[in-house]
Amino acid sequence: MVRKLLKVTVAGVLGMAAWLIAYSSGSRAADDKVVEISEIMRKSFKDKNNYKTSIGAAAKAGKWDDATKLAKEWADLGAVIGKNKPPKGTDESWKMQCEKFAANTKTILKACEDKDAKAVTKGLGSFDCMGCHKAHR
Ligand code: HEC
Repeated sequence: MVRKLLKVTVAGVLGMAAWLIAYSSGSRAADDKVVEISEIMRKSFKDKNNYKTSIGAAAKAGKWDDATKLAKEWADLGAVIGKNKPPKGTDESWKMQCEKFAANTKTILKACEDKDAKAVTKGLGSFDCMGCHKAHR
């Protein structure tokens, strides 16, 4: 009786462990999904409908829903750029630059939520392109 119970328990624990492993590796894959720096740069500044231009235009036209939606997507990218390793430069400097980048996308999002066109313009002009490129590109 005890042996049988033990067997059932062991099977249960093993099943649980297998499930946990499958589950956690699955979610880890999702969390670790790295969006490459080049892609973030193009979406941010280079593509035809890049975030900088599009958000600037939407804010200017008073289309705050559009501006806010875009700014949310941008802030999500800002939050993950630091998961990349840059082509060059120290980890410390990269971390600092990525934090500034992320913070600036958040400032822009807040400005859109506040419908504050001036703050949007200021945020859009506050990326340190050269500083970051010199050190890491
Ligand atoms: C947080 C640091 C950082 C900031 C800030 C930054 N960049 Fe970049 N950018 C990079 C790095 C690193 C690369 C090189 C990526 C690679 O080659 O893997 C790059 C590459 C690019 C590229 C080439 C993308 C491609 O097609 O491969 C463009 C265009 C670009 N940046 C534009 C800008 C502009 C414009 C700004 C400012 C408004 C800016 N970047 C601000 C880090 C940054």
